[in-house]
Formats: sequence, structure tokens, C-alpha cells
Amino acid sequence: MEKKKQLFFAVLLSLLQFSSFPLVSPDFTPLDNYLLDCGSNTNTAVDTRQFVGDSTSTGSAFLFAARSVSVSDASPSQGPSPLYQTARVFTGLSSYQFQIQNSTTHLVRLHFFPFSSQKYDLSAALFNVYVNGSLLLSNFSVPNNSSNNKTAVLKEYILMVDSGKFEIAFLPANTPSFGFVNAIEVFSAPPDLITDAQVELVGSARRINLTSQILETVHRINVGGEKVTPFNDTLWRTWIPDDDYLVLKSAAKSVSRTQPPNYQSNGASQEIAPDSVYMTAQEMNIPNSSTSMKFNITWSFPVSPGGVRYLVRFHFCDIVSTSLYLLYFNVYIYDYYAQQDLDISSHMAPFLASPYYIDRAVDSDSSGSLLIRVGPSNLSANPNVNALLNGVEIIKFANVEGSIPPTESKKSNVAVVVGAVVGGFALICLLITATLLRMKCREKKKAQLKPDETGVWSPLDLYGGSSYSKISEGTLSGSPARNLNLGLKIPFAEVKYATKSFDKKLVVGTGGFGMVYKGVLRDNTRVAVKRGVPGRQGLPEFQTEITVLSKIRHRHLVSLIGYCEEQSEMILVYEYMEKGPLRNHLYGSEFQPLSWKQRLEICIGSARGLHYLHTGSTQGIIHRDVKSTNILLDENYVAKVADFGLSRSGPCLDETHVSTAVKGSFGYLDPEYFKRQQLTDKSDVYSFGVVLLEVLCARPAIDPLLSREQVNLAEWAMKWQKKGLIEQIIDPHLVVDINPNSLRKFAETTEKCLAEYGVDRPTMGDVLWNLEYALQLQQTAVNREPHEDSITHASDLPLPRIVPRIPSSNVRIEEDSYGNSEVITSQVFSQLITNEGR
Ligand SMILES: *[C@@H]1O[C@H](CO)[C@@H](O)[C@H](O)[C@H]1NC(C)=O
Ligand SMILES: *[C@@H]1O[C@H](CO)[C@@H](O)[C@H](O)[C@H]1NC(C)=O
Ligand SMILES: *[C@@H]1O[C@H](CO)[C@@H](O)[C@H](O)[C@H]1NC(C)=O
Ligand SMILES: *[C@@H]1O[C@H](CO)[C@@H](O)[C@H](O)[C@H]1NC(C)=O
Ligand SMILES: *[C@@H]1O[C@H](CO)[C@@H](O)[C@H](O)[C@H]1NC(C)=O
Ligand SMILES: *[C@@H]1O[C@H](CO)[C@@H](O)[C@H](O)[C@H]1NC(C)=O
Ligand SMILES: *[C@@H]1O[C@H](CO)[C@@H](O)[C@H](O)[C@H]1NC(C)=O
Ligand SMILES: *[C@@H]1O[C@H](CO)[C@@H](O)[C@H](O)[C@H]1NC(C)=O
Ligand SMILES: *[C@@H]1O[C@H](CO)[C@@H](O)[C@H](O)[C@H]1NC(C)=O
Ligand SMILES: *[C@@H]1O[C@H](CO)[C@@H](O)[C@H](O)[C@H]1NC(C)=O
Ligand SMILES: *[C@@H]1O[C@H](CO)[C@@H](O)[C@H](O)[C@H]1NC(C)=O
Repeated sequence: MEKKKQLFFAVLLSLLQFSSFPLVSPDFTPLDNYLLDCGSNTNTAVDTRQFVGDSTSTGSAFLFAARSVSVSDASPSQGPSPLYQTARVFTGLSSYQFQIQNSTTHLVRLHFFPFSSQKYDLSAALFNVYVNGSLLLSNFSVPNNSSNNKTAVLKEYILMVDSGKFEIAFLPANTPSFGFVNAIEVFSAPPDLITDAQVELVGSARRINLTSQILETVHRINVGGEKVTPFNDTLWRTWIPDDDYLVLKSAAKSVSRTQPPNYQSNGASQEIAPDSVYMTAQEMNIPNSSTSMKFNITWSFPVSPGGVRYLVRFHFCDIVSTSLYLLYFNVYIYDYYAQQDLDISSHMAPFLASPYYIDRAVDSDSSGSLLIRVGPSNLSANPNVNALLNGVEIIKFANVEGSIPPTESKKSNVAVVVGAVVGGFALICLLITATLLRMKCREKKKAQLKPDETGVWSPLDLYGGSSYSKISEGTLSGSPARNLNLGLKIPFAEVKYATKSFDKKLVVGTGGFGMVYKGVLRDNTRVAVKRGVPGRQGLPEFQTEITVLSKIRHRHLVSLIGYCEEQSEMILVYEYMEKGPLRNHLYGSEFQPLSWKQRLEICIGSARGLHYLHTGSTQGIIHRDVKSTNILLDENYVAKVADFGLSRSGPCLDETHVSTAVKGSFGYLDPEYFKRQQLTDKSDVYSFGVVLLEVLCARPAIDPLLSREQVNLAEWAMKWQKKGLIEQIIDPHLVVDINPNSLRKFAETTEKCLAEYGVDRPTMGDVLWNLEYALQLQQTAVNREPHEDSITHASDLPLPRIVPRIPSSNVRIEEDSYGNSEVITSQVFSQLITNEGR
């Protein structure tokens, strides 16, 4: 018992220090060394290594699984490894995450053994495996060979891993299916295993970069020798004999030596291959009678046919010659020279029997076999005609067609917490932070919100020293025109200067309101200039926008820099938003997909903006047209809410400003507002919920091209959410990146936003808090009980403001083309104007 405890602490300590277990081979100690026995609640010793059970408190810190179970073999046999008695079964997107210390090549091994547990026949699993964002195994299964004969499958990858988070994710291929794994190894490779030296692609003049590749070991052969088990290998590899691959057995004869080889710094090290590989070989089996006979020794290895690229690593050690400079031979892959007239002595002098290796890349032919030959060279002279091979590895360049580009931003320095103890502490910190945050929110509400700390007051000293401070503190009631802040007026000449007289080349968008130009003011401020088409009916919206925007300034609301009313122009000048609308970064464009963290930050920014809008002024402002095209991104992907043309002050205001027409964009419309024409800030919450789904699923709110049940994103996604299967429909680019707990939190929050009745929806403040929590879950390795993160309830917060309903039969919905164009917004404007009889 005491011993067990000691072991636990030793393991825990070593994990916390990110160091390896002290038991590994003295020759090589990996800096990162994560060994997991999946599905096991005890640690398992295998040879000299200790595998941590992923159901132990230490091991579970690596597991991020919304739905997984540990299973054990119902009829365990004396299987090949104690690791294969248990497995973890994944019924939903799940992952293991490891903290990588040093950006070096790592080895990743996944063990699969398809036993049958009481509930799961693992041979029926069908799933995808992603390693660090790359889809490595798709529609993968490990079938039984025969009904009662199971073979373990070991997948080994050699890849460059950057320091920071490294993730191995499992995703069932379809709903009834599941994934599994028995054991995982992730450890740093010695620096010389894969170097930056480029490798020749045989049969071409090209050289290939290995460090940028994901490599998968396919064959690892101890030529002329016995099987080498992980126990006897410096990197816990298995090397198998070559007999089954020799094309003509009589052409080769195995040789061995008893002394260890003479390792030298310019050749192979013990980590490249162990002693036993270099101490045995196959050489030419030349009959006594005919010493001049010339032939090749040929091996044939099964590979994927048709131009699949492989790395072939040949291991040599001259254990046959009696002195240096006697042995010359040729090495071939297919009919290409891998090396002509190889002279090991010239590389390894002054010592004979020194390990040496060469790497070559080759593209497979159509036969499905990779042929390797060694044979005499023209330089070989009697009686020294010979050729040999000690070992060979055939390693595939993993085809990562379905790969997901790594999008995780590097600048995040949030500590990833490893270990259950630290995890628990982090959870407490998180809860405290969260509580403080909420308290702050409420205080702010009471104080009628000064611009919040994160909001930046940007002084406007252009044009006659006007600044926000001149903006009157009056309400938004009355004629918007009366409230226009004259300090923001910009002379027409300035606008013309900024836009080079409305140069068509500077147009960045068009809409019903008119054109939007990119421009630069005299002080080099980059701006977006929205120029109303003269004569169009847009004055009320123009004025609303000026009134709303000049009154409030916030880091997450697009700032109005000025406006121009001269010469019957209606021009609005905004801060320039480099990256444009959020929608363009989600789907239907060429932009690099955003990472989950970026998406969360964008959602949090927009939620902040809306929260401020709702609570930041005396009456609160309802945006009424929240959608992904009205959330703009600046050059740093900071989200800002835009387009206040439709916005309305909250209740208690002059009722004549409350429209009776239902406005907004189809697909985003609050069903309650639609039915009862009761406008509350909860209508924005609903629309924001739809935006959250767009962010998660990367598809439009309405897509009429899809089947009927899929057309409306909110309805469709909520069906999946209710089934607990939301991960089935998320943006495939997120599958690897997204932490399942973060996803769950996000999906729950979205579901609440989309509640049928406003009273059941959270406030923007709650939404904000929950999104921040989802971000914490993404960034922090915290294992929590499911009940701990249920959504915050709105009940203890101020009641939603309800705009008194004005009786009207004039309900209109603008069925725009899924709410993506300003034209539509403008049509809605016109509608508004007509309805209100302006
Ligand atoms: C990290 O890797 C680099 C080379 O890849 C090596 O020089 C350095 O010593 C390593 N750091 C540690 C702490 O092992
Ligand atoms: C997986 O298999 C299913 C059918 O079994 C197929 O529809 C799907 O395209 C396959 N996926 C991949 C990535 O091969
Ligand atoms: C059994 O399965 C293994 C791995 O899937 C495969 O290499 C082997 O050829 C199979 N054997 C038979 C007899 O099917
Ligand atoms: C695999 O073998 C197990 C017995 O070990 C058997 O129960 C199961 O049905 C087999 N699965 C398949 C797909 O043959
Ligand atoms: C299981 O299959 C392997 C080869 O795939 C074979 O060597 C072994 O003898 C088989 N065992 C049984 C019990 O059928
Ligand atoms: C692993 O992910 C990191 C970023 O998370 C990336 O820099 C690195 O290139 C990735 N490695 C591979 C092999 O994909
Ligand atoms: C090879 O890979 C290294 C590291 O990824 C990179 O710095 C180098 O530019 C690459 N060279 C080529 C030719 O791609
Ligand atoms: C390790 O190698 C030695 C000598 O080559 C051999 O006797 C022993 O059986 C091997 N051990 C294992 C576990 O393979
Ligand atoms: C070949 O010569 C070796 C000694 O050089 C001898 O031991 C061996 O029996 C010979 N083999 C044949 C087939 O004559
Ligand atoms: C050995 O194989 C290569 C490549 O196929 C071939 O060109 C060469 O003629 C062969 N040598 C002998 C002696 O058969
Ligand atoms: C090697 O010798 C053979 C005949 O012995 C000759 O045909 C061939 O051209 C030579 N190759 C080279 C590279 O010299």
C-alpha cells in the first residue's frame, strides 16, 4: 500500500515536472514521455516502462471525453501485452491532450487490440483518428482475423511536434459507431532520429524535407537476425526478421558478430537502431565453386500501390570484411540506385563494423510491392565480391488529405494544467474568477454602466477638437436629428480627400444604403466611408446610426468617426475593419478557417458589445439585426458589432419610435417577437444564438439548398443538440481543435439563447459569462463533473425590458436571402419608413 502510494507520487511528480519516468533505458531519456494504459484504473508496468491508467486520477487529466467508457476484455487470454486487457471506447468526439516541452520530433504510438467486452465488440468499431490536427486514420477499424483470432494493430507515427498542446482525437465515423484505443505512447525522439538533412527522392533530382512530414512506420526489419522486442530497443521499437520478405532465400546467407558494433559520431547511434540490428546481416550467398558469380539479394515489402511516398532507411555495418576498403556494393530501390558503389569504410574509417545508415525517399509503383536490392558493384574485385544489409525501415509519408490546418494561435500563454491536483486548484480559481466577474457585471448594471474597462474611449480630436465628451448625456428620445452630435461632423471635402473623390477602386462593399469605400483621413486613420445614395429613403436610419453610435463607444462596437450631411449627402465614416464581416471567415470564402479559440474570442467580443448596448445607457438599446454580417473583425480579429440602423432604444422611451413592424433578418428572427411583436433585448439574444450556431457549424442561418429539415440552422442544430449529438454537425475544421467540454458549454449556452420564450433566455451578460467559461474550458485542462458547469440562470438578474406592444396588423417579414446583404437591410429600412408613415 505504502509502495503504491509512493509510486503514485513519483509518477505524479514526474508528470508535474514534465520529466520522464526514471525507469527508462539509461541511454536515452525522453524529455516528454507520456504513456497511457487506456481504460485502466491502475498503472501497468511493461518491461521497464510504467503506463499510467487513464482512469486513475493522474491519467484522467489527459482525457477530454464527453462520452467515453472504459471496457475490459470479457475473456482475457494471455494476450501479447498487459496493455491489451482494457480499452477506452469513445461514443463521441474525445481527445487526449499532452503538454509538449520541446519542439522536436516525437514518436506517437497507438495500440489497438479488438477484444470483446460485455457491451462492445471492439472489432466492430469504425472511427477517425486525428493527431495534432491531421486526420491520420479515417474510417479506421481493427477487424478480427477470424472469429476467434485477434491481432493487435500498432500504429506508429514520427512527427515534428511544437511545444505546447498536442492532441490525439477520436471521432466515431457515424452515429451508432464508436472508436477505441488500448494504449498511447507519446515521447520525444532523440534529436538525431530525424534530422533536417534533406533526403534524395530516387529516380528524380529532387530532395525531400523530412522534418516537415508526418511519417508512419510500415516495416521495421532486423535483416539476418531475430525479432527485437521493445525491451531490447532503445526506443521501445519492435524489429522483425526479414525471412518472409526475401524473394530468393538461397541468394542470402545470414551473418552475425558477437561484439557490439563500434558506434561513431558520424554514423548511426544506438537510438537509430539497437546493437542487435547492426550485429546481424544478410550477405550474398556465393557458392564456393563460382566466386565470380554476380547477383542481387532482393526483398519485397507490401506497400500501398500507386505513387505513395515512402522513406526507406537502410542500416549497414560491415561485419563481413576482414579489413577496411574491401567492400563495395550497390543498393537499389526498384531499379533505381539508392546508392551506387557504396563504400562504408570511406564514411566510417578508421573502424570496421561501424553502424551507418542512409535515407532515401521513393514513390511506390503500381505493383503493391516495394523492392529493395543489394548487389555487387563494378568496383568489387575478387575475392571480395559481396553485398550486405543489416536492417531496413520502410516508413510512409502519411497522407494527410483530410488534415486540418493548425489554427491554434501561438500567442496564448495560458498555462495548460497537468495533473489532477493542479486541475482541481485551477477549477477553484476559475470559479472564483467567474464569481467576481459576475459580481462586477451586476455592479456595473447598478451603476448604469460607465463605458466598461475593456471598452476604449477613443478621443476624436479631428475636426475642431470635437470629442465624445461633448456628446450630450440626454436620452435617445425625441427626434434623432435633434440629438446629432455636431462635433462629429466632417466636411464633405475631407470625405472626398479620404476616398480620393469616391474612387471606385476603393469600394469595399455595396448595399441599399449605397457604397462603402475604404479611405484614409489626413491623419492616416483608416476609415470605412458609407455613402448614402442621394434620394433614397434612408434618413431615419442614418440618424439612428449617428445618434446611437455617437452616444456610445465601446471596444466591441464599431466606432463612428464622423458623418457628413452637406450637399444632401448622407455619409457615415467608421473605423476601418480590416478583416470584414465574421460570416466571411466562417463559410463561403477562401479565408483560413478560424480556430475554436479565435471563434470563442470573437463570440465573446460580440457578446460584450451587445451586453454593453443592452445595459450601457439609461434605457438600453436593442440592436434588432444581430447576424454574422453585422459582426466585423479588425486586423487582430477583434469583433465589433456594427449596423445600428435598425436599433431601438429600450422601453420607457417615446413610443412613437417603436416600430410595429417585425424587422430583422430571416433566420435570425426571435419567434416570440415575430408572434407577439414584443421587442425585448432577449430578441437580440435569440439572434445571437443563431450567430453562435453559424460559428459552430460554419453554415448560413438559412440555406434553402439543403433538405427541408436542414434549411433552418437553429431548428436543425437544436434537434442534434437535444439528441446530445451536436458534435456530429460542427464545422469539420473544429473537430480536432475543440475541447469537448468547451463544446458542451458552448452548445448549452446556444440552446438557452434559442429558447422559445424570451424569459427563458439568458441575458447577454449571462451569455458572455458562459462563453468566457467555454473559453476557459478550451484553454485549461480541467476535468469537471457534468453538473458543475450547467448554465447560469437568468432568474436572479433584472427582468428583460419589454417594449410595449403597439397594436398593429401590419406585420411584415423581409424574407431576405438569408440575411447576408445590406440591400436587404435597406429594404427593411424602407419598409420601416413606409410603415411608420415617414
Ligand atoms: C530542445 O531541443 C533542442 C533541439 O531540438 C535541443 O538543442 C535542446 O537541448 C532541447 N532542450 C531540452 C531541454 O532538451
Ligand atoms: C467512410 O465510410 C463511409 C461509408 O462506409 C463513406 O461514406 C465515407 O465517405 C468514408 N469516409 C472517408 C473519409 O473515407
Ligand atoms: C490478421 O490481421 C493482421 C492485421 O490486421 C494482418 O496483418 C494479417 O495479415 C491478418 N491475418 C490473416 C490471416 O488474415
Ligand atoms: C471478433 O471476435 C469475437 C470473439 O473474440 C467475436 O465475438 C466477434 O463477433 C468477432 N467480430 C467479428 C466482426 O467477427
Ligand atoms: C491467429 O492468426 C495468426 C496469424 O494471423 C496465426 O499465426 C495464429 O496461429 C492464429 N491463432 C489461432 C488460435 O488461430
Ligand atoms: C502540431 O501542432 C502545432 C500547433 O499546435 C504545429 O505548429 C505543428 O506543426 C503541428 N505538427 C504537425 C506534425 O502537424
Ligand atoms: C524543411 O523543413 C524545415 C523545417 O520545417 C524548414 O525550415 C525548411 O525551410 C524546409 N525546407 C524546404 C526546402 O522545404
Ligand atoms: C533481449 O536480448 C537478449 C540478448 O539478445 C535476449 O536474450 C533477451 O531474450 C531479450 N529480451 C527480450 C525481452 O526480448
Ligand atoms: C565452401 O568452403 C567452406 C570453407 O571455405 C567449406 O566449409 C564449405 O563446406 C564449402 N561448401 C561447399 C558447398 O563446398
Ligand atoms: C541488380 O538489380 C539492379 C536493379 O534492378 C539491376 O540493374 C542489376 O542488373 C542487378 N544486378 C545483377 C547482378 O543482377
Ligand atoms: C559495370 O560493368 C558492366 C559490365 O561488367 C557494364 O555494363 C556497366 O556499364 C558498368 N557500369 C558502370 C557504372 O561502370
